[in-house]
Amino acid sequence: MKMTVIGCGYLGATHAACMAELGHEVLGMDSDIDKVHTLNSGKAPFFERDLDDLLAKHTASGRLRFTASYGEAADFADLHFIGVGTPNQPGTDAYDLTHLFDAARRLAPGLTGPAVIAVKSTVPVGTAPQVAEILREYAPAKDLIEVAWNPEFLRESFAVDDTLRPDRLVLGFKRDHSWAETVLRQAFAKIIESGTPTIVTDWATAELAKGAANSFLATKISFVNAMAEVCEKSGANVAELADILGHDHRIGRHGMRPGLGFGGGCLPKDLAGFITRADELEAGPAVDMLREAAAVNGRRRQRVVDLAREELGGDLSGKRITIWGAAFKPDTDDIRDSPALAVAQALHDLGATVTITDPKALDNARKLHPELDYVEDPIAAVDDADLLLHLTEWHQYSNIDPKRLANRTTSPKVIDARGTLNTDQWREAGWLARALGRP
Ligand code: UGA
Repeated sequence: MKMTVIGCGYLGATHAACMAELGHEVLGMDSDIDKVHTLNSGKAPFFERDLDDLLAKHTASGRLRFTASYGEAADFADLHFIGVGTPNQPGTDAYDLTHLFDAARRLAPGLTGPAVIAVKSTVPVGTAPQVAEILREYAPAKDLIEVAWNPEFLRESFAVDDTLRPDRLVLGFKRDHSWAETVLRQAFAKIIESGTPTIVTDWATAELAKGAANSFLATKISFVNAMAEVCEKSGANVAELADILGHDHRIGRHGMRPGLGFGGGCLPKDLAGFITRADELEAGPAVDMLREAAAVNGRRRQRVVDLAREELGGDLSGKRITIWGAAFKPDTDDIRDSPALAVAQALHDLGATVTITDPKALDNARKLHPELDYVEDPIAAVDDADLLLHLTEWHQYSNIDPKRLANRTTSPKVIDARGTLNTDQWREAGWLARALGRP
């Protein structure tokens, strides 16, 4: 089957490569010509496990290529996935849908016959009719264009696996959608045949599915982090508490890791966007618990800043702080709304000299925060530090022997905000070790 993917960021590039892996002929389209060149050379412009292998395999097999031309995309196929970004409008929590509406408007003039436009971008509920209206207005094929809503639930660092083996497929249609449903079932045939639950619903439910899922995941993380606050006051251990809760199959073990809270390009933005849209719909009280989930998340970052000040006698000016981790989570180079960098920035603003290390995200961090210092080797990064903060739980860090480090610091003090360092071992090695939510 032939298809295009409009917008080749984290979501679109992965979707394009995975659809090629499923046997389809795929044209990816992105208006950033540099990105198109990189993708056509078989590489992703960002780090995502397994993605480079798939891109190299299918740009070589001829099943996958990329273009910057909307006209070429419109001519190429009758099925077009749209996966452009929907960031926050600057200075507000509302979604900025400019890229999505632009993509529909620029693709439309080439749509001269029946076509399915399947939107994957995350949006506020009520967006699908607006996309359909743009297509009706600008596409010569008018009412022969069918809009489908196909939200994406992939996690960065597991993006390929989540796309090829999703927990569920969601297909949202307006009405009388039999052709669009047939086309999409054909596109996802291998995934559906492998037993993936496939839910066919209306536009609004499909749009809400993504925001509601991310809001739930954010709330689950904030629940366990709220318990961490109670643990800190009561002397209990949140890691063991989360373990006990997670064994109840109604609660489940996933998304229950306490720590510095959630960041990234999705959960914080989608939580805020979902609340904003609910307020617009006069359903504000229904999402008050989500406001609290966001507040708990902010308090985790502040807690680390407060602990750092406590450990360093209150005044941070002239103090040297080393931070392990810049990415918003391990196994990615993505630093969007990174909790680690938010803490780094706050400590810098309070007068500390902050040195950061990260296995993949240093280049991105350096561009965004030129005022901070960067060192590649996590061991050398600790030299002359007054305090070490563990803020992104790369597995490499939990394997470092604390005995090798203690003498490199001015005084061996560590705060583990992610709960993956063996603090007993660090204490035996002479460190004063504290961990969020644990005695
Ligand atoms: C998230 C969702 O998990 C995906 O289902 C969704 O498709 C995606 O957003 C999206 O909207 O595109 P992602 O942001 O890649 O995926 O990362 P997660 O693995 O969910 O982690 C998000 C944040 O929560 C990270 O900062 C992570 O460190 C934190 N987290 C996660 C915890 O603090 N505790 C946990 O138990 C899990």
